[in-house]
Formats: sequence, C-alpha cells, structure tokens
Amino acid sequence: MEVTVRVQRYDPERDAKPHWAVYRVEVEPTDRVIDVLHKIKAEQDGSLAVRRSCLHGVCGSDALVINGRNRLACKTLVRDLGRTLTVAPLRGFRIIKDLVVDMRPFFQKYRAIMPYLVNDEPPPPHERLQSPEERARFDDTTKCILCAACTTACPVFWADSRYLGPAAIVQAHRFIFDSRDRAWRERLQLLSDDEGVWRCRKVFNCVEACPRHINVTKAIIEVQQALLTGSRGLPED
Ligand code: SF4
Ligand code: F3S
Ligand code: FES
Repeated sequence: MEVTVRVQRYDPERDAKPHWAVYRVEVEPTDRVIDVLHKIKAEQDGSLAVRRSCLHGVCGSDALVINGRNRLACKTLVRDLGRTLTVAPLRGFRIIKDLVVDMRPFFQKYRAIMPYLVNDEPPPPHERLQSPEERARFDDTTKCILCAACTTACPVFWADSRYLGPAAIVQAHRFIFDSRDRAWRERLQLLSDDEGVWRCRKVFNCVEACPRHINVTKAIIEVQQALLTGSRGLPED
C-alpha cells in the first residue's frame, strides 16, 4: 500500500523554522513507523535525522509525536494509522535536527532524583533479600524506559519546563518504594520543592502516552501520599 507521510523537518543551519515535508512511500501494513522513516532516509532523502537504537521498544530513544500522539516509532504499525502518517519530534525540547531533540534537560532531572539504590548497611553474605510482596510494591515503575513520552505529553511541562515531570517521578517512585533503599526520605524531599510532585494537576496525558502502560499518575499520587504521611507504608518504616 502507498502511504503519505508528513514529516516535520528542521535544519537549524538552513531553516528559519520547522516545516513539513511530504513523502509518498510504498509500505506493508505491518511495517512500523520506524521502518517507514528508514525507507524515506534510504530511498528519498538521506539527510532525514531520526534517533533510534534497539528497534524493539526497549531503549526508549524513538518516542515521537505520531498522528498527534506520543508513541514509539518502533512499536507503532502503519495499519493502525491509516494512509496518512504525520511524524513530529517530541514537544517541549530543543530540536537538534528534524526528529532529534535535545534530551539533556530531561536526563538532568532524572539524575537529580538519585536514580540508584542507596544502602550503607554492611552487605549480607549473599544478597539483600526482598519478599515477592516487597518487590511487587514498585514493579510497575521498574518498566520505565525513559522515553520521555509522558513528560512531553504533560501540559504542566509545556507551560513550565522547570517541572520535574512524570518520568523523573516514576523513576523516583521505583527507588522510594524499594524496601532495601535507605535514601527514600532524602529522595522524597527532593520531590517536594516548587517544581516537584505537587505541580501535577492529574491531567492523565502521561498515562495515555506511556508505551509501557505504567500507571504514571498512580505513582505520582503514591509519592504525594508518602510526602504527606512521612511514610512509605512499608512494615520497616
Ligand atoms: Fe516513557 Fe512511560 Fe517511562 Fe514515561 S513512564 S519515560 S512514558 S516509559
Ligand atoms: Fe501531567 Fe500526568 Fe500530572 S499529564 S499533570 S504529570 S497526571
Ligand atoms: Fe528502542 Fe524504539 S528504538 S524503543
């Protein structure tokens, strides 16, 4: 089948502002959007810039605005989009070129929430054990692939890019509710400032955007509750 693909193009060295380029491409209905973009790059315009790595929904590097919604290009099939595809870079980040945006501010926020386990107690002989129930407490937020689809779908972030954003809060949740972690109070404190977890207005765009089906808003609310009560609700607290 032939599809019409509108791609937002922008080369800061040549263009005053982004513009739309239109390509007609012969594809299979089971092709993914990333396959279509590769085809355009290989057969029509090698200068098209697009970021991707794993091609299997794991690395999080090819989140784009596809037909108006944030999705992974490697997980979105042409047959689910119809005969016209519209592809644009994520909103709210500086465009480096075409579909590639500057993710550095996003990862700065990720680093700010201490995204690692902290435990200074002497290690036991084998490993720091955890019950299945304790592990289940933060299972949902372990699935995050840091694609930024949630943060760049959030209107609070569009209005104020200083907002920490749902992705960083999801990552903080993963460690806050880990029974082995000893820095959860410190991490909660980091999330309580003006640009932190209280900025969320429960818009739920983040839940709809997440390709890993993480209940992002639930995670945000759980962090807010931990801040309000001063407890994670785990037995050892
Ligand atoms: Fe992507 Fe979901 Fe993680 Fe947000 S929570 S960065 S949408 S995987
Ligand atoms: Fe934004 Fe999600 Fe909250 S879209 S306002 S972070 S519920
Ligand atoms: Fe890795 Fe799509 S290329 S998630």
